[in-house]
Amino acid sequence: MPKVTIDGVTVEVEPGTTILNAARKIGGDLVPPAMCYYSKLNGSGGKCRVCLVEITKASEANPNPIPKLQASCCTPVADGMEVKNMTSPKVQDMRKGVVEFLLINHPLDCPICDQAGECDLQNLGYNYGVATTRYGEERRTFERIDIGDKIQLHMNRCILCYRCTYVADQLTDHRCHGVINRGDAAEISTYIQNAITNEMSGNMIDVCPVGALTDKTFRFKSRVWFLKPYDAHRECDKCCGKAVVWMFGKEIYRVTVRKDEYHEVESDENGKPMWICNTCRYEKKDPADWVIEGVRKHEKWSVINQGKYMKGTEKVVIDADPRLFFGRPEDRKRISMNGTVTPEQTLSDGK
Ligand code: SF4
Ligand code: FES
Repeated sequence: MPKVTIDGVTVEVEPGTTILNAARKIGGDLVPPAMCYYSKLNGSGGKCRVCLVEITKASEANPNPIPKLQASCCTPVADGMEVKNMTSPKVQDMRKGVVEFLLINHPLDCPICDQAGECDLQNLGYNYGVATTRYGEERRTFERIDIGDKIQLHMNRCILCYRCTYVADQLTDHRCHGVINRGDAAEISTYIQNAITNEMSGNMIDVCPVGALTDKTFRFKSRVWFLKPYDAHRECDKCCGKAVVWMFGKEIYRVTVRKDEYHEVESDENGKPMWICNTCRYEKKDPADWVIEGVRKHEKWSVINQGKYMKGTEKVVIDADPRLFFGRPEDRKRISMNGTVTPEQTLSDGK
């Protein structure tokens, strides 16, 4: 069994284990973040680059460092390998850069986004984001398209992690959506705007690391931190029937899968992921439909749990951050210091 040392902690793992999974075996702060890798979806990983790590010793047989940072989610460990994640200034610097890249096109609309409070990019933004941007170009935007009555697609928020396409491939019986076009024009879409109707399609919402796919039956109903999550189960002939019901008082506002500390669906005692069907997710909102097991804690990494919303906010400096601009380029306006729009500050130079 190969032994790998990550940030000074040594662990023995099965041959073929990736650095990321070896780190998860150790647990704690040294685990690299992951935006596209999802252990329950075959083939995922290798897209977002937030999990890059520094390999300071390739193996016992080859003690040389690997010159470039490597994606920990798809690099297998070798015996004697030494890896730096949190202890590597290079990695920390790179991660800041990746977050900056991801935020080039991702709108900063957390205050109105249903994913806020449980968004991996929001969490990364708090940890690695910078207060200003160097990006002066126009952002990539997409026309809104309708993919059915249950899932809302906000393509502007998508980071193209491909997780939802793996759900479509591996969980649903007929896949009708995927990534079309390439490069800057790549987008998640359903060809000729088919509705996504497969019985397991709602799981796409749960694997989306950002707010690009949200639940239309919950949209704008409440901020997640006002709800109390409970483990609950019901007899279901389509899925395992084990879910989390998010309640406000005695009302169920939404139903999701149970997620682990890496925001992935939990597995049952036989190691089978506990995906849920659309009937449990959208149609069982009466507490009488469920046997409530007990209250859950908010996720460990959540910005809610870490009290980050309680930190003092920095003053907005006018002229410093083009992310404060909104609207079409020809009538972009700025938000003033007290948060109100000042039309006289309309920009004409497109900066
Ligand atoms: S919609 Fe969400 S899950 Fe799908 S590729 Fe975009 S970010 Fe990933
Ligand atoms: S999690 Fe490794 S590249 Fe995205």
